[in-house]
Amino acid sequence: MDSCREIAAQMVAPGKGVLAADESIGTMSSRLEKAGVEATPENRRRYRELLSTAPGLADGASGIIFCDETLRQTFTDGRPFAEAVHALGILPGIKVDTGAKPCPGLPGETVTEGLDGLPGRLEEYAEIGAAFAKWRAVYVIDVERPSPGAIRSNGNALARYAAACQAAGIVPIVEPEVLMDGAHTIERCAEATAAVHADLRTELELLHVDLAGIVLKPNMVIEGKDAAEQCSPEQVADATVQVLRAWPDELAGVAFLSGGQSPERATANLEAMQRHDTPWPLTFSFGRALVDPALAAWHGEPELVEAGQAALAERVAANATAVRSRDPLQPA
Ligand code: 13P
Repeated sequence: MDSCREIAAQMVAPGKGVLAADESIGTMSSRLEKAGVEATPENRRRYRELLSTAPGLADGASGIIFCDETLRQTFTDGRPFAEAVHALGILPGIKVDTGAKPCPGLPGETVTEGLDGLPGRLEEYAEIGAAFAKWRAVYVIDVERPSPGAIRSNGNALARYAAACQAAGIVPIVEPEVLMDGAHTIERCAEATAAVHADLRTELELLHVDLAGIVLKPNMVIEGKDAAEQCSPEQVADATVQVLRAWPDELAGVAFLSGGQSPERATANLEAMQRHDTPWPLTFSFGRALVDPALAAWHGEPELVEAGQAALAERVAANATAVRSRDPLQPA
């Protein structure tokens, strides 16, 4: 358990966040195709190597989350991904859920699967070198949803996953994501997110999960994508921190997902969060807000690898700078 606490602290160390590069094979393939790149295992591998080897990445990224396929692949020089990123000073992580599936009994809502055989898989991932894991629960939002059934089913699965990770010496990233899809207000998002977190805290406590050995990866509290007006960074930060205040001080840290926000908006919101005094660090574990610009710049061309890496480095540095604004003594 102590090693989980140490690793969790490293993951949210001052001025650092976690890069989410763990898209499933299906999601990654469609993103590559959209960028004009053939969706082959080799191209997925090349893309993840491009991200992992961006110069200076370790200055702002404490870890990278991979999917199962990548963790079993190697860098061009033959070293397995986990070993190679470790050597770069970055912790390798693994997405262990098997996706959000329709939840029987709850039309339109999902429950995230992947608990069957999880302890055995975690043991193997630990042997391969994974230091941490990720599990994403997804909650749709409208006037009636997320329903109590979806909240409880997903909260219980997240807690079972987290307990299994800590038993295997792997830090769980616990990701309850209330989606941005819809025209809902920021107030409705706050209400739904608070309900999801309240249940999650109960489930984690019932399974004796050590909060000092997890990283919470929530959505920011924000209006829906189709809402008439966009909230300011200050409004997002105020609403988000207010919901998060219900978490105990011992929580190792909070690393937000970007959820479909533009890269610039996600960074501005993250920066506004830093003006709040909180007992836990507030950092980033963005996926799209970090990697979309890199994929667009590279789009599969060998001679554009450096351009892709520069685009990623620029976003990582912007977010690391945002996080460091909390503690100006951190080196830029
Ligand atoms: P986004 O930042 O693109 O929401 O992705 C984060 C993530 O890890 C989703 O599971």
